[in-house]
Amino acid sequence: MKEALTQTAKLFCSALRNLSLYPPSHPAISRPVQQAHERIVALFKERDPLVMGIIDDVLLFDEIPFYETDSLWKEIYGRLKGHQIESITFSGGLAQEELTALVNALALKIEDAVAKGGIAAVLAEQRVEHIKIKDLQEEDLRERAREVYDRSLTVVFDIMSELRMGRIPSGETANGVIAEMSDVVLKDKDALLALTMLKGYDDYTYVHSINVGILCLAFAAHQGLRGEEMRAVGLAGMLHDVGKVRTAEEIIKKPGSLTEAEMAIMKKHPVLGAEIVSRMKSIPHSAHEMILMHHVKYNLQGYPTIEKSRTVHPYSMAVAIADCYDALTTLRPYQKPRPATEAVKLMRRLAGKDLDPDMLESFVDMLGTYPAGTYVRLTTNEIGVIITPNHLDVTLPKVKIIIESGGALLPEPLEVDLLKDATGPGGERREVVASTNPILYGIDPAKYIG
Ligand SMILES: [Fe+2]
Ligand SMILES: [Fe+2]
Repeated sequence: MKEALTQTAKLFCSALRNLSLYPPSHPAISRPVQQAHERIVALFKERDPLVMGIIDDVLLFDEIPFYETDSLWKEIYGRLKGHQIESITFSGGLAQEELTALVNALALKIEDAVAKGGIAAVLAEQRVEHIKIKDLQEEDLRERAREVYDRSLTVVFDIMSELRMGRIPSGETANGVIAEMSDVVLKDKDALLALTMLKGYDDYTYVHSINVGILCLAFAAHQGLRGEEMRAVGLAGMLHDVGKVRTAEEIIKKPGSLTEAEMAIMKKHPVLGAEIVSRMKSIPHSAHEMILMHHVKYNLQGYPTIEKSRTVHPYSMAVAIADCYDALTTLRPYQKPRPATEAVKLMRRLAGKDLDPDMLESFVDMLGTYPAGTYVRLTTNEIGVIITPNHLDVTLPKVKIIIESGGALLPEPLEVDLLKDATGPGGERREVVASTNPILYGIDPAKYIG
């Protein structure tokens, strides 16, 4: 069964890929479609209907998951996301012509499919009856992301206040909020990642904790972790700096460099943090380890000092990477925020010494070239912020335009999906050229996100 499903997905995928090279009638397309059809018909004897779709950010064909490393995954996943399809259901009676119609429809340029009313409409027009398309509900997820993000701020605030009062809070609320975030991340990580670029300036400590938690969750999901393993990385991210409640405020808030004595105090926060969470109810042991080691570098320098015999938790490096990325992209009293692309450049210089090079590259892959919340300049000279990155073509995301070509602030930001319509105000093509720093244009970065 598994082998048959994999083979079918492969055939389906090669037909899709060949459509960019050959006309639809070419045997390079008709042959794999015919073979895929034969296999699906055979599979119907065991399972009817058959569903191909994205569930929890994994491409599933029936119950067989395809992970990132498969080229199959990229081809089909990219097209489903691009056409905003959650799932495709094949049912008994499926004709080969119907499968051909589906392959042709999926191979359409997104803007062409949209002009025709979407893939479902294209198939209906061709009287396809045995294939059903379910669309993604993107708007709902953005609202849910916002709601859980706001709630997580309260959760972290409460945990820190309890700790400051000398009490040990339960980890249950943190667990609850992380579980919900995991769910949102698996459905659409970009909805939450966009919010990590909000960067509230006043409540840095809380916002930073939440951001690191979200980045850790998205990264853990990208690495293929699920369930408790994934949540543990998120919890560690969210609570990585709790030990700082035991550090004097003057040291934490001090702008510029610390004296040696202050530094020694500061360096205690991972040990203190691990000790705190180990006393909190329902925080998994792996999270304690990640918190303890989030300042241990790839070359095992950093702090606390790690004995040779001790193994470093592999995901403490995930926390370290997320921590570094969030700090670099945040406005601090002593530092301008950097766009994602610049932060990545800087972090690559730390690879091999401070950061694990392989994990860093995987993290960068998870973010994409222009992550949600990145400010960009377009070919039209307009300035906007990325709402939803495009997994097929990074230059054509969904973007909110804030400054028009002449340099003036628009009275109302304009939200456009460049995948669907890339025509600029004067009829020219509108694409992303590069990331940019909102500060240069006097834009408050937080104002236009979420
Ligand atoms: Fe830290
Ligand atoms: Fe931190």
